[in-house]
Amino acid sequence: MLTFLELAKSRYSVRNYLPLPVEEEKLQYILECGRIAPSAANFQPCIIDVVRDSELKKQLAGTYNREWFRQAPVVLVFLGDHNLGWKRSDGKDHTDIDIAIMADHITLAATEQGLGTCWICNFDAVKCRLLLNLPDHIEPIAYLSLGYPAVSTDQTSRHLKRKPFEEIIKFDQF
Ligand SMILES: Cc1cc2nc3c(=O)[nH]c(=O)nc-3n(C[C@H](O)[C@H](O)[C@H](O)COP(=O)(O)O)c2cc1C
Repeated sequence: MLTFLELAKSRYSVRNYLPLPVEEEKLQYILECGRIAPSAANFQPCIIDVVRDSELKKQLAGTYNREWFRQAPVVLVFLGDHNLGWKRSDGKDHTDIDIAIMADHITLAATEQGLGTCWICNFDAVKCRLLLNLPDHIEPIAYLSLGYPAVSTDQTSRHLKRKPFEEIIKFDQF
């Protein structure tokens, strides 16, 4: 069994998918890994729209126009309910953080199941909102493409590029 560090290191952004469906049991498993994620004050403001319908996927590609995105058999659209998200006393809304935790659980669960994902935030959120008919308080925050990585896919140099420990870990005073 992989250690957590090995699992985390083996996740990378997959931008090349095989034309294979994701098995229902695997999909349910990784969604369950997302469902149990923690959230600020346990307010649970996250909703995941699982997009598999080919027509809707085509329309969604109109919000993020990349060939590899069209190939992905599943797209998970992470929606944040800003009416539910916890607000700190200074007003900071924690919905984005809650979404990120849930999505990260899912990327790692997918990796464990031999599946690939890619985070996508560079989509047209206005178009997405119209396409999915979202009310004002529901924000489309991120997409995750999901599917089996193509054999030719490899970890990009960006995946291997991380700041050194000393640069990002501070002990005690900043
Ligand atoms: C919040 C967030 C948003 C991202 N948005 C995009 C995106 O819109 N398009 C894309 O191709 N990659 C996107 N990525 C993937 C990053 O480019 C990638 O995670 C980073 O370069 C490190 O590579 P790795 O995931 O292979 O380790 C995003 C990642 C994160 C965490």
